[in-house]
Amino acid sequence: MYAVKMRDPKTYEIRSSGCQMNAYDGDRMAELLETHGLQAAPEGETADLVLLNSCHIREKAAEKVYSEIGRLVAGGQKPMIAVAGCVAQAEGAEISRRAPAVDIVVGPQAYHLLPELLAKAKSGEAAVDTTMPRISKFASLPGRSRRAPSAFLTVQEGCDKFCTYCVVPYTRGAELSRPFEAIVDEAQALVDRGARELTLLGQNVNAWSGEEQGVRRGLGGLIRRLALLPGLDRIRYTTSHPADMSDDLIDAHVEVDKLMPFLHLPVQSGSDRILKAMNRGHTASSYMRLIDRVRAARADMAISGDFIVGFPGESDGDFEATLRLVETVGYAQAFSFKYSPRPGTPAAERNDPVEAPVMDERLQRLQALIRSQQLAFNQASVGRRTSILVDRPGRKPKQKIGKSPWLQSVHLETEADKGDLIEVEIVSAGPNSVAGVEIGVGRDAAKLRSAA
Ligand code: SAH
Ligand code: SF4
Ligand code: F3S
Repeated sequence: MYAVKMRDPKTYEIRSSGCQMNAYDGDRMAELLETHGLQAAPEGETADLVLLNSCHIREKAAEKVYSEIGRLVAGGQKPMIAVAGCVAQAEGAEISRRAPAVDIVVGPQAYHLLPELLAKAKSGEAAVDTTMPRISKFASLPGRSRRAPSAFLTVQEGCDKFCTYCVVPYTRGAELSRPFEAIVDEAQALVDRGARELTLLGQNVNAWSGEEQGVRRGLGGLIRRLALLPGLDRIRYTTSHPADMSDDLIDAHVEVDKLMPFLHLPVQSGSDRILKAMNRGHTASSYMRLIDRVRAARADMAISGDFIVGFPGESDGDFEATLRLVETVGYAQAFSFKYSPRPGTPAAERNDPVEAPVMDERLQRLQALIRSQQLAFNQASVGRRTSILVDRPGRKPKQKIGKSPWLQSVHLETEADKGDLIEVEIVSAGPNSVAGVEIGVGRDAAKLRSAA
């Protein structure tokens, strides 16, 4: 079926899909493999060990891992293959049965055991670990070594919300907040390695809670502490749940200059009937009141969201309610998905599916509306002067792309490099990005830095 199995991998490649928490886990697994003597495979070369850090959120995402395995097997000498992430957690040993080419299966709460699993796989043993140990993996991971101007930092894991469509409570386990000091230490390590922007991550990041020297803190308190780190310029957090949006966190947006004016706050639907069937724990109007409170605190807050169309039983009227909610909020950006029934979730048991063509039409209408709102948001920022953090080269020579405080991608010509914080004026807008010109070139860079 396939040629010789790779038995002693020297190089690795990690392919992460899904959410930012998977991207974070991918970095941590890379650091771990490196402390065990593996090296990142050079660009364009197949690694000896390919780790598929998978996502189980929708059927399409989950199937991707099998097509990738198929391609790896077809490519001549088979690398060692590890499946990590949420598909690994959901399907476990089933994966090796369906795809015998897989050597290692490791869940999101067990990946600190990757070196042991690798040793097993080398000796030809089955290497599967999808346990969810009560002791968190973080304490047994090596310290941070990745260098990046913008870095992710997982502060909270798992989910206790059990929305009826969602696999996350099963693939990531119960809600768990990492301790305050551990987060501050990791943030410091990332800043020492050049991070100027940190994005705090959690499936319900705003449910984070911990203790700072015996005093209970929420996410707002953690952000206030991180803002004291010299060299750190920007703080973000994602994803928040409407039920956990405290006044203290909203106040942090007023008090902490380094906290960016961007809030990803998924609502999923504008129909109370559907929200109830989804077990979301909020209504359309409680969500709207929350948005009003956030905007009263910080008028320029960019609001982002997630939507599911075609949840079982969704009527035309329910969908119209979603469109009305979107119109009322005015999103800076939003993601929308067709409902995908997931094995083991309560909604998958329902027998009132929305028909595929209806779902397609609803998705198109919603996406057209969101796109027009994104364009309107970007157009409203034309003429604004703001800082951007340069994060990658653009397509044309000298062109770079950076992020505004409102998470817009800003294209511009500049000599500045990745990781520089520069001042720009936004001069034109499209639905997915804006164009800027650099201003104040040659001005006191340190001053700009502290002002940003
Ligand atoms: N914890 C976050 C994000 C969870 S997953 C939250 O509660 O908002 C990211 C998004 O995927 C969700 O917000 C939802 O819009 C979408 N999603 C989750 N399960 C889905 C499913 N079964 N079908 C379609 N979209 C889904
Ligand atoms: Fe899934 Fe709901 Fe938890 Fe978000 S809050 S991860 S959508 S169960
Ligand atoms: Fe996907 Fe798991 Fe994230 S299912 S969205 S990778 S938590």
